[in-house]
Amino acid sequence: MVKGFSLTQIALHWVVGVLILFNLIFSDDMTALWRQIRQTGPMPTTTGAWLHIIVGVLVLALVAWRLTLRFTRGVPAAPAGESHALKLAGDAGHILLYVLMIALPVTGLLTFYGGITALGDLHGGILKALLWIVIALHVAAALYHHFILKDGLINRMRKPG
Ligand code: HEM
Ligand code: HEM
Repeated sequence: MVKGFSLTQIALHWVVGVLILFNLIFSDDMTALWRQIRQTGPMPTTTGAWLHIIVGVLVLALVAWRLTLRFTRGVPAAPAGESHALKLAGDAGHILLYVLMIALPVTGLLTFYGGITALGDLHGGILKALLWIVIALHVAAALYHHFILKDGLINRMRKPG
């Protein structure tokens, strides 16, 4: 078992985090274009929509890289002394984050380039809402470790080990 995350794993965590938040916050141009295409038929992709697509595809590629590293290099074990329930919650949360980080761009691509309108509802509806919720819980958990448990867990995503 490795002692900590590598520099690459740490960099990927923060870069992907910023890109995901970017697409969660700046999606209006994409939504507007998709609405217009459904109402009046095909039209050129706007700059704002391109940004949404490129950022989303970048997330997909970087998450694939992250998962490869997770399976080849590995990740550190849960902090010593952590309860079984907390460890399970952490593992479940991380798996859900990975699933959503893949599901969001894939459903987006299938909607826009595959024309599957129902997946667009999923993409901008339940999947988006779930991602916000799991990110909020993830950050809350990190703060709980830092301020209540005081086990230095956040340092794992700051310094390579
Ligand atoms: C990190 C990945 C992505 C995230 C977090 C994300 C997030 C979002 C959000 C928050 C919305 C607005 C939903 C709303 O409140 O109405 C949206 C809409 C949309 N996104 Fe993405 N997106 C991602 C990747 C992509 C990709 C790669 C595409 C490919 C073209 C795409 C296509 C769309 C489309 C077509 C809509 C409009 C859906 C509709 O209104 O039915 N997204 N996205
Ligand atoms: C202020 C914001 C954030 C903080 C403080 C933070 C902190 C952390 C920490 C300390 C870990 C390591 C947990 C461990 O060793 O068990 C971690 C892992 C992780 N974080 Fe974050 N994070 C933040 C934002 C995000 C965001 C926005 C995402 C993606 C949407 C994300 C996705 C992940 C994933 C998937 C893991 C698991 C890594 C693995 O074990 O493969 N994080 N985060």
